[in-house]
Amino acid sequence: MARRKVTVVGAGNVGATLVQRLAEMEVAHEVVVVDIPQTEGMPSGKALDLMESGPVVGYDTRVTGATSYEATKDSDVVVITAGLPRKPGMSRDDLLNTNAKIVASVTENVVKHSPNCILIIVSNPLDAMCQVALKTSKFPKHRVIGMAGVLDSARMRWFIAEALDVSMECVHAMVLGGHGDTMVPMPRFSTVSGIAITELLPKEKIDAINQRTRQGGAEIVKLLKTGSAYYAPSASAAEMVESILKDKKKILPCAALLEGEYGVDGVFVGVPCKIGARGVESIVQLNLTTEERAELLKSAGAVKELVGALK
Ligand code: NAI
Ligand code: 2OP
Repeated sequence: MARRKVTVVGAGNVGATLVQRLAEMEVAHEVVVVDIPQTEGMPSGKALDLMESGPVVGYDTRVTGATSYEATKDSDVVVITAGLPRKPGMSRDDLLNTNAKIVASVTENVVKHSPNCILIIVSNPLDAMCQVALKTSKFPKHRVIGMAGVLDSARMRWFIAEALDVSMECVHAMVLGGHGDTMVPMPRFSTVSGIAITELLPKEKIDAINQRTRQGGAEIVKLLKTGSAYYAPSASAAEMVESILKDKKKILPCAALLEGEYGVDGVFVGVPCKIGARGVESIVQLNLTTEERAELLKSAGAVKELVGALK
């Protein structure tokens, strides 16, 4: 197998936890973690700590830390987690212009050293940051993917498993739309061992699960007080990296640039994507009810508005 290399930009909560997960999963031979020069030895310190975990946990992934981009050269996949996280009371959208500057400069540096990589964006507000990365990188649309739907549906999966007292392994869920308050949980396409949850739970319970899913990020921010979620976000990004590097072709809800699919044009919105070696290999178009379609269009409209507010 060709040697594979992943770069994670941002050695904060999501970035560092993602690096740990990737090292433990041994999906790449090399993982590089980069942060800003002001962090000095921090990324290298985290990388060294992870190498020293290798003998105990049992992995051979080579992890290195850096504060410049030379070390990222020729990465196959680059995950951008750089940016500010939400504080209590802040919406993801409050982060818009600060993180747009960060994502643009990171993307520029990444592309210089890894012109053929696949970019996975994590920084918020997610869908707008994907747009920034696409524009800055000038990559074809299938090589810029946003991580949000895997996380939002993982949250929904846990809430379903908890409600039915069943194994989480049997539970799948689908959340479409932007990664914000207008996201669209899809109970008809959320299943327990192939059985739609609409067959298993009363409407009121499903409504409550949908609402908790939409508020899933805020629920964690409120509890943590000093930042936002990182265990489930890093697990979600790791699943996407693995699906690319192993060409697994998993169908995962991801933010992809839509050009007519679902009646949406020119914005990143969460939809079911086949994720493989080429990035977004195809988009699955579900038959939506009038109500579901209206919710998705409303969510796409909210993303469009946000992108319009980019300075
Ligand atoms: P954090 O504050 O723990 O880490 C962010 C890191 O980015 C810091 O180490 C910081 O020094 C670094 N950074 C800032 N500017 C940079 C630059 N120009 N180049 C390289 N590194 C830079 O934040 P956390 O919790 O890791 O979250 C990171 C981002 O991911 C936030 O924007 C957050 O809102 C977003 N997020 C998105 C999720 C999603 O579902 N899409 C889920 C969770 C977080
Ligand atoms: C989340 O959903 C903050 O977007 C982040 O946890």
